[in-house]
Amino acid sequence: MVTVKHLLLNLLAAKLFHLANAVYIDLSNKTSIDHAAALIVQGTLDYYEGDRKGGTIGMFQEPYYWWEAGGVWGSMIDYWFITGNDTYVNMTQQALVYQAGDDWNYIPLNQSTVEGNDDQAFWGIAAISAAERNFPNPGSKEPQWLYLAQAVFNTMASRWDTQSCGGGLRWQIFSWNNGYDYKNSVSNAALFHIAARLARYTGNQTYVDWAVKVFDWMESINLITVEDPWSFVYDGAEITNNCSDIVKYQWTYNQGLVLAGCAYLAAYTNETLWTNRTMWYMESSQVFFNNSVLYEAACQSNYHCNNDQRSFRAYFARFMGLTAQLVPETQNQIMSWMNTSALAAAQSCSGGTDGHTCGINWSYDGWDGWYGLGEQIDALEVILNSQILSKDKPYTHDTGGTSTGSGDAGSKTTATNVAPLNITGKDKAGAGVLTAVLGLSLVISSIWLML
Ligand SMILES: *[C@@H]1O[C@H](CO)[C@@H](O)[C@H](O)[C@H]1NC(C)=O
Ligand SMILES: *[C@@H]1O[C@H](CO)[C@@H](O)[C@H](O)[C@H]1NC(C)=O
Ligand SMILES: *[C@@H]1O[C@H](CO)[C@@H](O)[C@H](O)[C@H]1NC(C)=O
Ligand SMILES: *[C@@H]1O[C@H](CO)[C@@H](O)[C@H](O)[C@H]1NC(C)=O
Ligand SMILES: *[C@@H]1O[C@H](CO)[C@@H](O)[C@H](O)[C@H]1NC(C)=O
Ligand SMILES: *[C@@H]1O[C@H](CO)[C@@H](O)[C@H](O)[C@H]1NC(C)=O
Ligand SMILES: *[C@@H]1O[C@H](CO)[C@@H](O)[C@H](O)[C@H]1NC(C)=O
Ligand SMILES: *[C@@H]1O[C@H](CO)[C@@H](O)[C@H](O)[C@H]1NC(C)=O
Ligand SMILES: *[C@@H]1O[C@H](CO)[C@@H](O)[C@H](O)[C@H]1NC(C)=O
Ligand SMILES: *[C@@H]1O[C@H](CO)[C@@H](O)[C@H](O)[C@H]1NC(C)=O
Ligand SMILES: *[C@@H]1O[C@H](CO)[C@@H](O)[C@H](O)[C@H]1NC(C)=O
Repeated sequence: MVTVKHLLLNLLAAKLFHLANAVYIDLSNKTSIDHAAALIVQGTLDYYEGDRKGGTIGMFQEPYYWWEAGGVWGSMIDYWFITGNDTYVNMTQQALVYQAGDDWNYIPLNQSTVEGNDDQAFWGIAAISAAERNFPNPGSKEPQWLYLAQAVFNTMASRWDTQSCGGGLRWQIFSWNNGYDYKNSVSNAALFHIAARLARYTGNQTYVDWAVKVFDWMESINLITVEDPWSFVYDGAEITNNCSDIVKYQWTYNQGLVLAGCAYLAAYTNETLWTNRTMWYMESSQVFFNNSVLYEAACQSNYHCNNDQRSFRAYFARFMGLTAQLVPETQNQIMSWMNTSALAAAQSCSGGTDGHTCGINWSYDGWDGWYGLGEQIDALEVILNSQILSKDKPYTHDTGGTSTGSGDAGSKTTATNVAPLNITGKDKAGAGVLTAVLGLSLVISSIWLML
């Protein structure tokens, strides 16, 4: 928590000593964007432990969880792709390979008792991004980007659960973790999203079929609404009532997962059904903008965003950028939001001891005293993606993508929620506390968006 004293002192320090080091961007000057992004990336990597003595490759320091590291490496791919700066290519590649785990499916042993479907998905999304952007491929004895994305897809799809609610993924993979009885949007929307991207990359119809199945299921239990003008993505539902009570928090990253998934399907299938849906999720995203400045509406207004939630806008900005590339009809609206938000975010990156630490409230004049890994990548992604239309669209295996994979990647591993491992009491308690804290802060921190 940021105390008032801490906040005031930092604000004073920022104003007096650090204005000279603040991030500055001019949207039509690529050099200024590259320079700003380099500064923000420096601040991001201040939290990286993998290059420190005793640190684990791929991991960020406490309190940042493993899943968010997957999010950050996805942002580092964007950094390389959009600026062309290859300084961190090796670091990013090493992280993505090291955390792939022994089975090359992003269930590394260290996470294997606490990992949820959504956690695994965020690393899978980094992997499919690496394939689509032609991020330098790992050595031939190492897992390849496409393979990793397919392994994540296959292992997630194998957990599809028809025992309750007519289908869907549970939030948790393991029965001992709190949240096992919750079917949430982020897990299911991520499966939809990864399937849509694999469909377009590989041209394999099975992925389209899966994407349609997940989307239709989410619609059938009202986890998502699919209508003009309000197409929303809600948080999730307990299986206890057969998913009839929808928990209606709305998060930017959930909206973005569905939005971009629709855009990939629109681009791949050419069906107006998907173009229409893309437009609806795009237009409905206006609930996350205040005067065109992106904010995490469900928690930011009362300063209750937790560490996870403070990074959601980064993925949303990335997914909006992809959508603008894939569905031209969205470009005016998306780039108008992106431009305004990028400028607002950049001026907030003017605090801390380095003089360019990013804050949370981009409507605030200058840095607002907040700082963290999420604040850094939120600003990074929205600033980078202001340039996305000058870059190539995501590649496919027919248009320049060189990554290789396998349709049955990951499928030799046992479906983990069917045959849970034996875990010790200690691990179990740890996992329970962790999810309880998350669950509690979700409740405290969120307000319903009543419209
Ligand atoms: C573009 O931005 C760079 C870095 O901020 C600056 O040095 C340069 O003068 C700018 N160029 C123009 C044409 O404004
Ligand atoms: C590339 O990134 C590094 C590290 O952020 C930075 O020091 C360097 O100036 C960047 N190069 C260019 C050309 O922007
Ligand atoms: C990355 O690593 C390779 C081999 O380890 C090396 O040749 C290359 O120069 C490195 N690239 C950068 C940008 O550091
Ligand atoms: C797992 O944890 C151990 C102990 O902290 C560490 O040495 C190892 O590098 C970690 N492996 C992965 C893949 O994170
Ligand atoms: C639970 O919901 C699913 C999907 O809406 C439905 O098909 C199923 O019949 C319901 N089961 C019960 C017991 O109500
Ligand atoms: C979709 O349209 C594009 C451009 O018109 C075309 O190249 C592509 O083959 C079409 N895809 C399908 C699946 O029809
Ligand atoms: C898409 O939207 C257009 C314009 O609103 C409408 O005419 C068309 O029927 C829609 N197509 C589908 C498949 O929903
Ligand atoms: C929206 O931004 C304006 C200033 O631009 C501010 O007065 C207002 O409080 C902001 N609303 C929220 C919900 O943050
Ligand atoms: C963000 O800053 C604006 C402008 O100072 C202010 O009006 C608004 O209340 C702030 N938002 C929050 C959530 O504090
Ligand atoms: C975003 O900013 C760029 C650079 O100034 C400009 O070319 C573009 O037209 C802007 N886009 C929108 C939709 O405002
Ligand atoms: C298509 O994907 C499915 C699901 O991963 C896989 O089982 C199948 O082998 C793939 N087909 C081809 C031709 O790669």
